[in-house]
Amino acid sequence: MATITDTSTQTVAGETASDYDWNPWAPRRGLRCIACKTLFPLREVIYRCPKCGDLLDVVYPRPTLDIERVKARWWRRRASRRPIDASGVWRYRELMPFYERLDQLVTYPEGNTPLLEAPRSAEYANVKRLRFKHLGFNPTGSFKDYGMVAGVTQARILKMRAVACASTGNTSASMAAYAARAGLAAIVLVPEAGVSFAKLSQSLDYGALTLQVRGDFDEAQALLQQIAPEMGIYVLNSINPFRLEGQKSVMIELMEQLGWRAPDRIVVPGGNLGNSSSYGKALRELDDLGLLSKRPRITIVQATGAAPLYEAFTGGHPESLVRVHARTLATAIKIGSPVSWKKARRAVHWSDGWVTSVEEQDIADAKAIIGADGIGCEPASATTLGAVRRLAREGTDERIDPDEDVVAILTGNVLKDPDYTLRYHSGELYEEFTTETTITNKGNPLVSHYANPPMVVDATLPALRTALESRLRLS
Ligand code: F0G
Repeated sequence: MATITDTSTQTVAGETASDYDWNPWAPRRGLRCIACKTLFPLREVIYRCPKCGDLLDVVYPRPTLDIERVKARWWRRRASRRPIDASGVWRYRELMPFYERLDQLVTYPEGNTPLLEAPRSAEYANVKRLRFKHLGFNPTGSFKDYGMVAGVTQARILKMRAVACASTGNTSASMAAYAARAGLAAIVLVPEAGVSFAKLSQSLDYGALTLQVRGDFDEAQALLQQIAPEMGIYVLNSINPFRLEGQKSVMIELMEQLGWRAPDRIVVPGGNLGNSSSYGKALRELDDLGLLSKRPRITIVQATGAAPLYEAFTGGHPESLVRVHARTLATAIKIGSPVSWKKARRAVHWSDGWVTSVEEQDIADAKAIIGADGIGCEPASATTLGAVRRLAREGTDERIDPDEDVVAILTGNVLKDPDYTLRYHSGELYEEFTTETTITNKGNPLVSHYANPPMVVDATLPALRTALESRLRLS
């Protein structure tokens, strides 16, 4: 097992001092290393610091904004007929000024995702109120569109001809669509096994060259990073800091939806840890600009079988990450070596947040409850409700108070993994299984506590009557 250690600015406790308070601004625009702080030109095609190998942030000088005026302007743009103003990303472009001219900006448009009350989910989790911000309402059905729009914009500014990513399915779907819209060639590497057909079919339909790698996501990601420079292709995984610039707008949009009253806690699933990282950067910047009423505690959730960050935190070694061989039915977050873990740790430390993990059974049941709220999501997203319930009920590692104002982030649409949903409701979900045309090997069944199985009925009135009476208990 490999250990990746952060030796940049360690304190005695092993934590990184700059995690708790870092300067989000720079004297000029550029790419700044999160460890050695060296600033590189904005248009250099680099994904890691050429000096020390660490991750890069896109940085800008502190903007001078009249807060009330900029809030009003952002709100007005919602009603605009101009696509870049209607975009839930570019509407907030004052906080992501890495472009030169507005005509460089690519947009679908994206964002504008709802914040939904979820009373059944709240009751299930034992909190008084729970709201979901559902990022699955994006054009390709996942949160990736918030970041891809920025990554593809930078690819166009750089005059790249081809873009590529390794993916568990959503990044690839999003990149394929945005590349097609922007006229760029797209190359997608996905694990041969375990990517949902819904996601795979998206990248095929959007015309990406789709390579099914006989390996897992971590291997595909490592291969791509090695081959990209020699092939002259631009990598749009979340190691690309421009992706995270776009994803910042999830937080800005959320604060706007909440009338600029920040919640106590934001719960987000963690896979490659780009999303949580971008939330940390966004909140840090909003706080510095006086746009944050308080620091919401960023709480990252991983599946127990794919929880390297959780293990680093609870094992008391947040300065190093031990890669794991990832196993989870929530295939979107089946990642054992998350690339952005140091930025995610920075987000957790700065916001006084936490990292937790949930079991497969809890993810499956939580997903059914979110469905019963009429909302629905893909399995990775349901980790959030599983975590809120565990922390509110057990509170062994961290406690959620029933009165806390919690917003949970749903990252993918319910239609992203229909196979999982059908199996759950039919009582056919196994932690370990292999399929050919039907399941050939079943291991570790999960219990479908909230199953809503389909019924097959003969096409006759009596049969229909019997079925209705038995299910609706009519007499
Ligand atoms: N939820 C969904 C639905 C995802 O697709 C992903 C990541 C995550 C959560 C985790 O987000 O990586 O930013 O921590 N999916 C990537 C992909 C890895 O390739 O689609 P993260």
